[in-house]
Amino acid sequence: MSPIDDFLQYVDDNQSGFIDRLRDAVAIKSVSGDASLRPDVQNMVDWFDGQLRSYGVQTEQVDLGYQTVDGQQLKLPNAILGRIGDDPNKKTVLVYGHMDVQPAEKSDGWNTDPFTLTIDDQDRMFGRGSTDDKGPICAWVNVLEAHSAKQLDLPVNLRFCFEAMEESGSEGLDDLINKEAAKGEDGYFDNVDCVCISDNYWLNARTPIVTYGLRGVAYFEVTIGGPAQDLHSGMWGNVVHEPMTDLFNIMSQLVRGDGYILVEGVYSGIDDPTPEELALYNALDYTMDDFKSAVGGDIGLSEDVSQLLMGRMRWPSLSLHGIRGASSDETSKTVIPATVTGKFSLRLVPPQTPEDIEKKVKTYIEKVFNTLNTKSTLKEVVMTSGGMPWITDDKNWSYKAADDATMDVYGQNPDHCREGGSIPVTLTFSDALKVPVLLLPVGRGDDGAHSTNEKLDISNYMGGTKLLGTYLYKVAASETGEARRAPNKQKLPARALP
Ligand code: BES
Ligand code: ZN
Repeated sequence: MSPIDDFLQYVDDNQSGFIDRLRDAVAIKSVSGDASLRPDVQNMVDWFDGQLRSYGVQTEQVDLGYQTVDGQQLKLPNAILGRIGDDPNKKTVLVYGHMDVQPAEKSDGWNTDPFTLTIDDQDRMFGRGSTDDKGPICAWVNVLEAHSAKQLDLPVNLRFCFEAMEESGSEGLDDLINKEAAKGEDGYFDNVDCVCISDNYWLNARTPIVTYGLRGVAYFEVTIGGPAQDLHSGMWGNVVHEPMTDLFNIMSQLVRGDGYILVEGVYSGIDDPTPEELALYNALDYTMDDFKSAVGGDIGLSEDVSQLLMGRMRWPSLSLHGIRGASSDETSKTVIPATVTGKFSLRLVPPQTPEDIEKKVKTYIEKVFNTLNTKSTLKEVVMTSGGMPWITDDKNWSYKAADDATMDVYGQNPDHCREGGSIPVTLTFSDALKVPVLLLPVGRGDDGAHSTNEKLDISNYMGGTKLLGTYLYKVAASETGEARRAPNKQKLPARALP
């Protein structure tokens, strides 16, 4: 049997062990956004560290220091750097993934306990992190296990960079990546030929994709204050300026109901799609039914599915997320809240940058506030986190290897597309290493990442394990040629996109 067939056979024979791996990973509550769970996040790091080591990866946990949350110093979970293989005749693939997850409580609307992997009669594995991103990184560990158990030589040298703060802005990771890249021969990223990230999803539930673009993000909080303390609305309603009313007025002038962003200047530099680009969106395997089942209703901003896809992938968006400081959902308190903070974020596309958007948003909110004729105070507008958008050439050897691997495993060519979510570290890798970066998803569009009842189909988990492993064999067999050090297309205007 050829090594790759041996590998594929091992995967087929070891489904239940692979599922146990994911079950163990899901059981650890590595919610990076919940300070009280920070010890569990570090436990998750230790657990993955142990997994990598047990299959021969040399690892190092890197201390990323502290972050400040509500004036308190909070220890960041360690990142893991790892290496296996140092053969100068092999290519070297750097794998990135994240071990942290979004918060989840059964009471949010889960049908099962979010931290107990539960398999239903359609072979779907439900649990927080099943698809984002514990399933995909367990799939990488499955690949290692198969090679170790069968004593197969890995076809490439592998490097790992696993972090546990991705869902909370990847604190500390950019510095680590840049430092490590600057170490050259002495660093973990020396001689890396390409980066592979599996942290997104197919567009629909049937067609594999590879992804060559992500939107960036700029997250804002706007705070309005007024009275010294909360007031009784019976005594002071229609007597004082109310911060909440002012905040709603501001929030209502950020974006229109049809999705058009009202902040002045945000669209500057973003060109309309050319006919060639439109054709790309028309060719993607995505139907109105796919869309409706993903969102749970007929609620699209357009009747044209290509327009919906472009709204997600090649235009910016602005979403309102919530209000802090107001009466909670459960109560009907008749109070006038003294100070309220509105939360919203923009998803960015080239050539937008978080810095430029921050200036435009601040200027715009101050202008709107001044039209309100209120005696409330605009206390602050802060961009709490920002990440650059990313887009790359999808014609290089690494994408070709992903196409070939997909054809072998799923019997079809993947669609190539951009994606609407953000993984800010992608651009950091691209800039620091100047090698092709590929997003190769494991899960499906209906997995419900970040949502209640997040799941990963067993077929995607097993297919994904085969896909990631097969990709390594295809990379090993690639002619890298001139495209090996592919230029980063980040700075090109939208019109020039592939
Ligand atoms: N896996 C997602 C990124 C993603 C989401 C890719 C949807 C493609 C489609 C990742 O874990 C994530 O959620 N990232 C955050 C980043 C933010 C905190 C900077 C996001 O997109 O909200
Ligand atoms: Zn993720």
